[in-house]
Amino acid sequence: MKVTAVDFVRSAASAADLPRDPLPQIAFVGRSNVGKSSLINALVKRTVARTSAAPGKTRLINLFRVSLASKSPSSPIDRFYLVDLPGYGYARGGEKSQAEFDLLVRQYFGSPQHGAAAVLQLVDIRHPGLPQDVAAHAWLAAQERPCAVVATKSDKLSRNERVRALQQWEQSLATPPLPVSAANGEGMEDLWKLIATLLTPRA
Ligand code: GTP
Ligand code: MG
Repeated sequence: MKVTAVDFVRSAASAADLPRDPLPQIAFVGRSNVGKSSLINALVKRTVARTSAAPGKTRLINLFRVSLASKSPSSPIDRFYLVDLPGYGYARGGEKSQAEFDLLVRQYFGSPQHGAAAVLQLVDIRHPGLPQDVAAHAWLAAQERPCAVVATKSDKLSRNERVRALQQWEQSLATPPLPVSAANGEGMEDLWKLIATLLTPRA
């Protein structure tokens, strides 16, 4: 996929700060440190999102507007937002601050006019079936938005380990995750195809 432009649009601290234009938004959701910001950078082949080895880096809703080189049958939408959300499951400031993050994310999903068109839930391929991820998946599924699961950091496992991990993930979420690696670029073309599918309006 050829990305012609990526613009950091803004950091939103509340749903009121979300863009008012009608471009669809793909939200990246997952535990802190799972690799949401890294995956956005790997997808667009630019360093636009800030990443960190320590969890709790992304604390606001960061919006990146992406333009693709051309529309095609597999990708009928050539302009949209990738949305980098704060992670769940960790907060530097303790539980109170985690509650504020959760509120921000809930607000984001609760604003149908300005919120996500579709969701990518990111899970760490090495930790199949984490209860927090399973619970988040159930919550997201209830949002009635197109949602797909991506298993990050595939480079961290051997071939055999990853086959087993992917099977376990599929069992616990009842959907097969797409393995990707921001470190070595595995899965990026498939992820673009998945995004195109999520963005394609259903009949
Ligand atoms: P928060 O903003 O805190 O919610 O985290 P995040 O989900 O945005 O994670 P981030 O992209 O900041 O990455 C967390 C750490 O994982 C960083 O040290 C990254 O370098 C590392 N990382 C991310 N993706 C990969 C990957 O595909 N492979 C490997 N080996 N490391 C990765
Ligand atoms: Mg982040």
